[in-house]
Amino acid sequence: MADFFTDADAYVIASYTDGDAELPDGIIDFADDVEDADLNGFNVSVIGTGDTSYDDFCSAVDDIEGRVKEAGANIIAPGLKIELAPDDEATEALKQLAATITSI
Ligand SMILES: Cc1cc2nc3c(=O)[nH]c(=O)nc-3n(C[C@H](O)[C@H](O)[C@H](O)COP(=O)(O)O)c2cc1C
Repeated sequence: MADFFTDADAYVIASYTDGDAELPDGIIDFADDVEDADLNGFNVSVIGTGDTSYDDFCSAVDDIEGRVKEAGANIIAPGLKIELAPDDEATEALKQLAATITSI
């Protein structure tokens, strides 16, 4: 994680949701490190894909955003939850996020 938060204007963390509302294996260590980090002064947004047929849609987005907030980061846009592959609405939301980031 030390390599991830460096000197960028903003950071986007993306994760799908796996298992029974779980984080995917590949991001668990990162998410655990975030919990212990001091992210004051870092601009962060969290996005992710999921499937509304599961009880906890995109819970990984809420989980990671919670940890990032707890670590003191500035959340630049509310967590963006995308159903499976981005449709037009999700694509527009991603463009909005990109615009927010480039305006920083
Ligand atoms: C075993 C398994 C468990 C999943 N659990 C959840 C879940 O709890 N909540 C959710 O929103 N999506 C869940 N999903 C859906 C995945 O997040 C979804 O397939 C993925 O975001 C779509 O991205 P992809 O097309 O890149 O696979 C699950 C998928 C699988 C295969």
